[in-house]
Amino acid sequence: MKSALLDQKLWRSFAKNHWEKKPLLLRNVKSGLLEMSAAEIFDLLVLFADRCRELNDPAGFKFYTDGVKAEAEDVLYVLPVKSDKSLAGYHKRMNAQFPDYCLVCDELLQVNLKKQNLLTEFTDELYRHVGFPNRFSEMGLYLGNYKKTPFGVHVDSCGVFSFPVVGTKKFRLWSAAYGDKHPELDRTFNYEKHKKHSQLLEVGPGDMTYWPSSEWHIAESDGSFSATWSLGVWVDKQHKDMFSDSLKNLLHTKLGATGTQVTTTFKSLHGNSGEVTELPPAYVQSLKLLQKMNPLELQDALLQDWMKHISLQGFKSMPVDAAKISVKSKIQLRHEKSLILWQQSLVNKKNHHIAFGGALLEGSSANLLKLVKDLNTGKACAVSSYLKGPQLKKDLSLLQVLADAGACAQVCMEKSTRP
Ligand SMILES: [Fe+2]
Repeated sequence: MKSALLDQKLWRSFAKNHWEKKPLLLRNVKSGLLEMSAAEIFDLLVLFADRCRELNDPAGFKFYTDGVKAEAEDVLYVLPVKSDKSLAGYHKRMNAQFPDYCLVCDELLQVNLKKQNLLTEFTDELYRHVGFPNRFSEMGLYLGNYKKTPFGVHVDSCGVFSFPVVGTKKFRLWSAAYGDKHPELDRTFNYEKHKKHSQLLEVGPGDMTYWPSSEWHIAESDGSFSATWSLGVWVDKQHKDMFSDSLKNLLHTKLGATGTQVTTTFKSLHGNSGEVTELPPAYVQSLKLLQKMNPLELQDALLQDWMKHISLQGFKSMPVDAAKISVKSKIQLRHEKSLILWQQSLVNKKNHHIAFGGALLEGSSANLLKLVKDLNTGKACAVSSYLKGPQLKKDLSLLQVLADAGACAQVCMEKSTRP
């Protein structure tokens, strides 16, 4: 079968005809994301599950039996283990206990940066064509023998891309207009009479489906095992909320102590006729602060917020495998395409901001900025060649914040000395 290449032509057509408009089904899609094998996914699951067992916290996993969500403390006992050997082995163990189960792992790609980059290659193209999400995208793995989505027919505030890995998956969809007219569809499992108005997308490994955020949907199966990636791109935050959030952050900083008052003192509320003419002193004071604001200051604050937002690369969080950085470390970017973002302050030319993975730093160290710029070229950098002098301690602690956010990794000395 001819493969569907996710090239510029296809993305342009997707953005124009499908994004937030209508579903799409592509067979035999050529994408690095779909080349991840069931064996690799199993290894990632065990790695993530081992981490959860170590922390005694199943955060990132959800488990449903017969449509009922398991309590967090029970989830740890149903996660994949190494001795399952494969997804099929895990299913064999689960299937013996649960005739209807669904394991969801929302943060699987967090454990492997290389695999995370297969996802960002996909989302980067998506964002280039439909815009950067004001909220974020989330990639989840759904596996099990469940016959229907555990919570019935529903609508999410996200557009969904699905990529089956094992087994056949069926997605039944209803348009927003139909869903609006039939509110009884919400959370139901009994939709026999509505079937004729639905669209059924049947997909297998190598295929990809997309449906817009307004589409009502439910996954169906005959009870055989399936594993499916699902990428949800949240579309429930409008620009006006993004913009006003940034302004709000700025105002909170600006207003200082006045901003924390919980009652407002006044001279008079209104005149005898009911006319209101007077702003209370707190308002007058805050208004003065606003009027005194330099337009560059405003632009700077917006730019900082935007940079912090895009430093998450359109995800809720970034994979982190924090390295302890010392002056003796030799470091490089965690991935050549995941640059550390920075900007010169528009208000004070000596200051700059640096962002990665949602962490935003403010500084004035030319040494640290030089290190960031060199790291961004893909170079491995000896920390001691950059950070020195009286600023050293402070710069090291800022660099550690970036490392904790997942920006850079230690270069293995052994590897770096090899010819
Ligand atoms: Fe959904």
